[in-house]
Amino acid sequence: MSNTKNILITGGAGFIGSHIVRLFVNKYPNYNIFNLDKLTYAGNLENLRDVENKPNYKFIKGDITDSEFINKLFSDIKFDGVIHLAAESHVDRSITNPGEFINTNIIGTLNLLNAAKNSWANNKNNNIFYHISTDEVYGSLGNTGKFTEQNAYDPRSPYSASKASSDHLVRAYFHTYGMQTIISNCSNNYGANQFPEKLIPLVINNIKNNKPIPVYGKGENIRDWLFVEDHAKAIDIIFHKGKSGETYNIGGNNEWKNIDLVKKICEIADIKLNRKPGESEKLIEFVKDRAGHDARYAIDSSKINAELNWQPTLTFEQGIKITIEWYLKNEQWLNNVLSGEYEKYYNKQYKER
Ligand code: NAD
Ligand code: DAU
Repeated sequence: MSNTKNILITGGAGFIGSHIVRLFVNKYPNYNIFNLDKLTYAGNLENLRDVENKPNYKFIKGDITDSEFINKLFSDIKFDGVIHLAAESHVDRSITNPGEFINTNIIGTLNLLNAAKNSWANNKNNNIFYHISTDEVYGSLGNTGKFTEQNAYDPRSPYSASKASSDHLVRAYFHTYGMQTIISNCSNNYGANQFPEKLIPLVINNIKNNKPIPVYGKGENIRDWLFVEDHAKAIDIIFHKGKSGETYNIGGNNEWKNIDLVKKICEIADIKLNRKPGESEKLIEFVKDRAGHDARYAIDSSKINAELNWQPTLTFEQGIKITIEWYLKNEQWLNNVLSGEYEKYYNKQYKER
């Protein structure tokens, strides 16, 4: 294969996708990066302002659930690789509207697999379909143990069930059709550009605006947090060095009880906002628990560490400070996202041209 490659990144205007698009556009000038995104409420082209005019970057607005559109895209452009992130990603929304998750996460993935299979039929070995998944497919842990790649799938929310189903489809296309595929399952990401419906940006935003901080149940659920740029680096390594047919777990080795994490954010925010110690913590309110709330996630990253030499580069202390500073400084980004202003940005950038 020549050094020039056409890479399709789906969901590139979202939180994690935008960090991957930026990394790939800047690091690989010989790759043409195509960012396919429907721009749902979670997709935001403002996340990519710094790379939007680069010659090796192209944005395509489109819906992965539209099989005709996807098939045409794959016949118009010969992709050498796909990194698939487009998804409905918020567990709470999956509880109120599961159908949307089934459609996007399962049917959307199926459409991409079919289009890639047809497009690569005569050249099976030089392409890769890399599916980005979540640790939630493994279910919920007790007080001990960590998820390894050998854990049986045990999804417990409509979101994780839809992601598990898409993972199974990807494996089925590897085994049945000989497609080159890789899957990685990652723990909770945090960092810049995350939609403020997710815990960490929501807490920071509420602290900033002196609004109550909603903690589900008793705040005792545990998550394993990873800085998003470290996830992007892992994806880069897996895309280039991972073995087809394999699964890689990616985690931060960084478990926090929700209540301790929220208190930690309050403590740092007090310093950054020149508040008295303990002031932001007063905003914490315990609210009704999430239905079927998974107790604990923790990832065993020893496979990717041993085989691909990846590990997180930032400590949590470093990552969370950078993240809090980013949300406090980027007030405009938060306001735009929350008011739907970014849609106007999209119209101005692309429709009036
Ligand atoms: P996100 O919600 O921030 O972004 C999802 C993106 O997909 C958005 O830009 C949205 O517009 C796009 N999209 C949604 N439906 C689409 C459709 N039908 N067609 C085209 N584009 C569509 O999500 P995220 O947090 O960045 O997660 C990205 C991926 O990583 C998801 O597959 C998610 O399951 C996975 N993941 C997320 C985390 C996490 O902590 N956020 C952890 C592990 C895995
Ligand atoms: O583990 C990876 C997953 O992490 C990803 O696959 C998902 O896309 C991503 O959304 C995330 O899922 P979680 O449900 O773990 O993330 P969320 O930020 O929604 O919640 C984190 C924890 O905080 C969880 O235990 C629920 C709790 N929570 C969340 C919100 C939004 C609260 O206590 N209060 C809240 O207001």
